[in-house]
Amino acid sequence: MANRVCEALGIEYPVIQGAMAWTSMAPLVAAVSEAGGLGVLGSGFMPKEIILGQVDAVRKMTSKPFAANLFLDPGPQLEIGTEAILEGKVPVVYIDSLNLLQYDLTKEYYDRFHAAGCKVIAKINYLEDAVVAEKAGADVIITKGVEGGGHCTKVSGRVLLAEVVNAVSTPVVASGGIATPRQAAGCTVVGAEGVEMGTAFMASEECPVHINVKKAIVKAIDRDIVACGASTGEPSWQIRNKLADKLLKIDQDHPWSEAADMIREASSGSLRIASLDGEVEEQGAVMGGQVVGLIHEIKPVKALVADFCKEWQEWLSKSYSLF
Ligand SMILES: Cc1cc2nc3c(=O)[nH]c(=O)nc-3n(C[C@H](O)[C@H](O)[C@H](O)COP(=O)(O)O)c2cc1C
Repeated sequence: MANRVCEALGIEYPVIQGAMAWTSMAPLVAAVSEAGGLGVLGSGFMPKEIILGQVDAVRKMTSKPFAANLFLDPGPQLEIGTEAILEGKVPVVYIDSLNLLQYDLTKEYYDRFHAAGCKVIAKINYLEDAVVAEKAGADVIITKGVEGGGHCTKVSGRVLLAEVVNAVSTPVVASGGIATPRQAAGCTVVGAEGVEMGTAFMASEECPVHINVKKAIVKAIDRDIVACGASTGEPSWQIRNKLADKLLKIDQDHPWSEAADMIREASSGSLRIASLDGEVEEQGAVMGGQVVGLIHEIKPVKALVADFCKEWQEWLSKSYSLF
């Protein structure tokens, strides 16, 4: 039976590698797409020249479809990213928002991408955004639950997926806290036609982050993950270390009007310090999601795409019975 996510995106396996700022760079994106899934450039905050350079780099490594990330939030970056993705003729745009989607703006941008022949993935955190995304013409909807790496949201992945599949007819991809084929099989039963993984791909062999970041993910357990930066309005999950403790203390000890700037200052460059320099104890931020407890080894991308789907299908072929 044909899989609608694969058909919509022109891919072989319904596995999407989540966009990860300054982490899902060309080598990972190309590896995932080449393996038959969909690689997504973490281009949401990148200047135009860097996006175009990354797009070129991906094309040198694969001729298969891939995507680039754009945040649908008004501001200069929206136009910078849109121009780069259109100019680079990226086959799929992966759009999310740090705020609730506004229908008119959403429709305007989806139409611009569709007019250029670009497929649109909407990554959403709330049911009402899924409804707006479908009305505006999204080709695929990803439901990202609170447990997923990156920015913390509110609704659990289990609840969000069940709500969204009941409300839309667009193919839905489950995301947040997924790292095993058996979980993916559970999502299929609920109604998902694909899965997205971020943290699991961050710990893959092909991800171009420092080995210490991958080892930190493998070593961490579920309760090591803490939400940092609540006062900024955009808290993100991090593996607990000295920096995370410092950020948590700032929010605890200061009025949030002051804490937000202190957090920004204390965490400035922290992703780079971990990802490039490999310093993951004191000042570097390792932004893994709660799923770290299910990640026990550094795997090649293939194991997270073709091998993953083979086992996923095997789980679906088993017959379960409650009585
Ligand atoms: C280090 C890191 C950076 C991320 N950066 C972004 C980003 O720039 N844009 C975005 O849409 N999502 C971002 N995310 C979220 C992922 O795309 C994906 O939705 C999430 O990781 C899925 O949950 P999981 O980590 O439990 O698999 C990031 C996630 C991580 C772990």
